[in-house]
Amino acid sequence: MSRPGDDWPIRVLQVTLFGLCLLPALDLLRGVLSANLGANPVEHLLHATGDWALWLLLATLAMTPARRLTGWGGWVRQRRLLGLFAFFYASLHLMVYLGLDRALVWSTILADVWRRPYITVGLAAFVLLVPLALTSSRGWMRRLGRHWKRLHRVIYLVAILAVLHYLWLVKADRLVPLIHAGILALLLFARLPGLQRGSPLRRKRTQARSCPQKL
Ligand code: HEM
Repeated sequence: MSRPGDDWPIRVLQVTLFGLCLLPALDLLRGVLSANLGANPVEHLLHATGDWALWLLLATLAMTPARRLTGWGGWVRQRRLLGLFAFFYASLHLMVYLGLDRALVWSTILADVWRRPYITVGLAAFVLLVPLALTSSRGWMRRLGRHWKRLHRVIYLVAILAVLHYLWLVKADRLVPLIHAGILALLLFARLPGLQRGSPLRRKRTQARSCPQKL
């Protein structure tokens, strides 16, 4: 049984990750305030926020395999923080697109959604991310019960759509989006039931079940 104070490594990791996840936003803010975002600031903001949203989505998905590999449950306690930061950067990304790239001209935006598949797919990823962010609290976890887990599996679909969005929009060198696609494929592969059976965490649980007095 865990005692109060036992979770300090989890807290330290949480605070560290919080600081690290905030850094890119602060850096972008500094760039905006000092007018130092290069020749095309809107493009810079759009690309940087999109990149961070995608990396943080992948980081969120990496927490469960990390627990399986190491047997340490602290990793999965970081999922909410990383997922919410992914949502934060995706929201900034959407706002930059709507407000700065398209100057809130709705006819152009609707034409983009209709004619450019990468925009349609990006929008679908964002729309699916909204209910996950809204129901990420412990209160909602309790209220939704077993449906919560089912709902939050949608994160895999969000990540697939986000990678497709990136692959679709790049016309020439596809190396970076292909790296994202490769990482996502590995993370999906790590969820295969056969692989989970031999994980350290699964072994610990099986041992605990067969000799409960040792708990
Ligand atoms: C979860 C949601 C989303 C993620 C993770 C995401 C991610 C990305 C990434 C990684 C890039 C490429 C950045 C680069 O080239 O360095 C990008 C570009 C872009 N995204 Fe998204 N995106 C999302 C949603 C959206 C939405 C909702 C829209 C608009 C409705 C959008 C519009 C764009 C545009 C216009 C670009 C730049 C295209 C260009 O350079 O020609 N994205 N996004």
